[in-house]
Amino acid sequence: MAPGRGAAVVIQSVGKTFRRGGRRTIALADIDLTVAPGELVCLLGPSGCGKSTLLRIVAGALAPDDGTVTVDGTTVDGPSADRGMLFQTPLLFPWLSTRKNILFGPKAQRAAGLHERDDPELGAEADAILDTVGLGRFGDAFPHELSGGMQHRAAFARAIITRPAVLLMDEPFGALDAITRVRMQDFLLRMREQYQTTILFVTHDIEEAVLLGDRVAVLGGRPPGIRQVIDVPLGRPRHAADADTTEFVAAKRQIRAALTGRAMQAHT
Ligand SMILES: Nc1ncnc2c1ncn2[C@@H]1O[C@H](COP(=O)(O)OP(=O)(O)OP(=O)(O)O)[C@@H](O)[C@H]1O
Ligand SMILES: [Mg+2]
Repeated sequence: MAPGRGAAVVIQSVGKTFRRGGRRTIALADIDLTVAPGELVCLLGPSGCGKSTLLRIVAGALAPDDGTVTVDGTTVDGPSADRGMLFQTPLLFPWLSTRKNILFGPKAQRAAGLHERDDPELGAEADAILDTVGLGRFGDAFPHELSGGMQHRAAFARAIITRPAVLLMDEPFGALDAITRVRMQDFLLRMREQYQTTILFVTHDIEEAVLLGDRVAVLGGRPPGIRQVIDVPLGRPRHAADADTTEFVAAKRQIRAALTGRAMQAHT
């Protein structure tokens, strides 16, 4: 498969307020964040601080009240094949085999005239990706025949085969046990080296944010905004063992301070 390419994502002055009955909830206010092509930025913050809302706005599934999002200079005004999304619960069609689930996106893209790869070419690509995610022997299995971790890898394969320029991940490993989670993080790091996709990754977990992110944007406050953006001073490729380094521990401390409001210096 040809290497992917990441797009630049520019979030400018984005705000969103939900209105329900007589009640208003300011979900996000004045969000500015620029993500470089191929960069992995983690969004971290307490429950309800607008992380999923921000991801849905970047996906084009939700329109902001204020501000704009651009992907490689084009303003987001709806969903598009250049942005893939992965959720906490892997979304797979239960009536399709794993292989057909993976082929669903590229076939839909072909029907929409987005590429001209024929069935044999797509089939070979699906098989290669199934191998890469360790599901080579499970192409014919249905989602209910896969373990939770396998379903996550299948969902990941399904997203990556469409070659999104941006991958939006909303706590994709939150429901996994600790060991499967470490495996999936490692897997994501390897996939990322290979595809160079730009990734926005939502997590509650400080350790996960430091392990994965080039930068960590800490959200919070009232109204919810970006409190601080922290550079993670670790090289690539990353491994779980990096968590023992002093740089890692220092980054965690910095994030914890930002979360608790002890370090409120503006930073972008
Ligand atoms: N469709 C909606 N209608 C009304 N309010 C909403 C809607 N979606 C989100 N909200 C509100 O906006 C705020 C932010 O929600 P959001 O789901 O973005 O938070 P989050 O940071 O992803 O939280 P969590 O970590 O629990 O997933 C919350 O107060 C939530 O109740
Ligand atoms: Mg959420």
